[in-house]
Order: sequence, then C-alpha cells, then structure tokens
Amino acid sequence: MDNIKKIVEILKAHKDYISGDYISEILGVSRTAVWKYIKSLEKYGYRINTLKGKGYMLEKTPGAPLPWEIERFLNTKTIGREIIYKKTIDSTNSFAFKLALSGKPEGTCVIAEAQNSGRGRMQRTWFSPDGKNLYLSVILRPYIEPAKIYPITFISCLAVYDTIEMVSEIVPALKWPNDVLLNKKKVCGTLIEISAESDMVNFVIAGIGLNINMEEKDLTEDIRYKATSLYMETKKVYDRAYICGLMFNFFEKYYDIFKKAGGSEICRLWEERARINGKFIEVNQMGEILKGISNGIDSTGALLLNIEGKTKRVIAGDIMF
Ligand code: BTN
Repeated sequence: MDNIKKIVEILKAHKDYISGDYISEILGVSRTAVWKYIKSLEKYGYRINTLKGKGYMLEKTPGAPLPWEIERFLNTKTIGREIIYKKTIDSTNSFAFKLALSGKPEGTCVIAEAQNSGRGRMQRTWFSPDGKNLYLSVILRPYIEPAKIYPITFISCLAVYDTIEMVSEIVPALKWPNDVLLNKKKVCGTLIEISAESDMVNFVIAGIGLNINMEEKDLTEDIRYKATSLYMETKKVYDRAYICGLMFNFFEKYYDIFKKAGGSEICRLWEERARINGKFIEVNQMGEILKGISNGIDSTGALLLNIEGKTKRVIAGDIMF
C-alpha cells in the first residue's frame, strides 16, 4: 500500500513520462515490481500511458474513494486514518461491526465500491450500485451510556450536509431522523448500529450511504421517484475521494463537539439546519400515523409533536411528505 501511494505521488508530480528505472530507484524495488504496481493501479481505475524507452505517464486518476487518495484531503486525528477499502462487500456496516468486535480502534473506516446487501433502517435495503457513490462505515468508541447514542445519527447527517453545501453550493434539507435530501429526494441515509451492555457502549458503527455520481438510469423503478444524487441535481461528476475526505473532516469536527459538549449540542445544530419547528408533520410510527405540529427535537434527539395541544415524543418512525 505504501509503495502504491508513493508511485501515485511520483506520477502526479510529473506531468511528463517518467522512467521505470527512476521509480524503482526511489522506491528501492525492481523494475518488474514497479510494472506490477502500475498494473494494479490500472485495476484501481488509473489511466497510465506506457511508452517504450520513456516509461509511464499518468493520464487520469479514477476519483474513487481509495485510501491514499482520501488521505490527501484529511485533516483529522482519528476518523479515516485507517481505511479498509473493498471492491464489493455485503454491507460496510456488517464488516465494520466484525472489525470492531476484533478490537479495531476508533476512527477505522470501511469503504466499498459496491454492496450486495446494503442495509437501511427498519430492515430496508440500501441500493448500492458499483463505483458511483459512497458506502462507508466508521467505528466509534464513545465513552457513554447507551441512552445517549441517538444524536450520533445527526453527526453523520451534519457532516454530509456541510460537505454537500461546500462542494455543490446547494443547501440540502435534513429529514428526521437520518436523511439528507436534495429537492425533496433522498441523497443520503445514515444507519447507526451499536454493541452495548446495559450501562455502557462498547462501540458504535456509523454507516453512511451518500449518492454522488449515480445517474437516473442507474436507479431501479421502485426508488426513482424518491432518490437522487449530487450528479442528478447538478449535472457534475464529483471526485468521491475528495468528498469522502471532506466528510470525514466534518464528521470529526461534530464528533468532537459531541464528546465535549454532549448530544444536546449536536441536536441543537441539527435542529438549526432542519428548521422543522412549527411545521405540520405526519409520522408513520410502525403503522400508526401521527399528525401534529413539530416542536423540533429534544436533547436526546426524539421528535416532539404537538398533537391537539399535547406533546408527544416520537423516538422511531418515518416522516411522510
Ligand atoms: C437508511 O436511510 O435507511 C439508512 C441507509 C444507510 C446505508 C449505508 S451504506 C453504508 C452502510 N452500510 C450499510 O449496509 N448501510 C449503511
């Protein structure tokens, strides 16, 4: 991995052809080894021109969320400092859960190009086409009681919100509890899973699915009317490594706030952006439809609904519109 990263750096630093001899000297490996690294970079999607007698020249980087590409954009201490990158996986959350059980430290991330059993909230599936979007899970080890976990969902949403605002200049919308929307369609969903004992959390897996370069034709019929991507909204193709790096930076910022100031501050920041106070809302709570005026969320993240003068705390459900 280290040599791959170094070769990418060398190729990027030279706008012209660079000889295999030169690269092999810098890395202290044979020319055949350099050739093998070049071949594996091509498999990762790099376009590299090879010219006999002249060497190699980088023509195009893939814009994929490869660990060494993301690292260029990171200013975090822990989040994303170790990235496990997979071409295909069942679910990044499931894999991260296993890694956390085996003791992987806080901040470790699993990223996949495609998921064949991507999971959403409430036993739903998460549509995960290959090489277009971001599917990732972050291992967290907060030192808190299980009851205080809920706002971690909002940390992911805030990080995605700020990232989208920064790269696209579109202001997204937040939908309680875990969605980020563009033009009323879902661009991102987040899924928190935890391992806990009665009075302490062992670890949390924060899963994020962010639709980036997916096109309308990639969508299946059942989600076409409700899902979108950054590409679909702006007609621009995005570098997923850049977006991922930015998102990790924001994630760490909000996670630090969570650890220092507590979940209530995260809830306040989420509420500030979600602007749901005073709005008429319908919530599907396990088949029961609740209708009322929103009083925002409380300091634990529960939705507060004023139904005929009485406040109801809703902790699980789907807002309908
Ligand atoms: C939802 O909106 O219902 C939550 C969707 C969460 C999807 C992400 S994709 C990466 C991570 N791995 C999964 O299996 N799910 C989450």
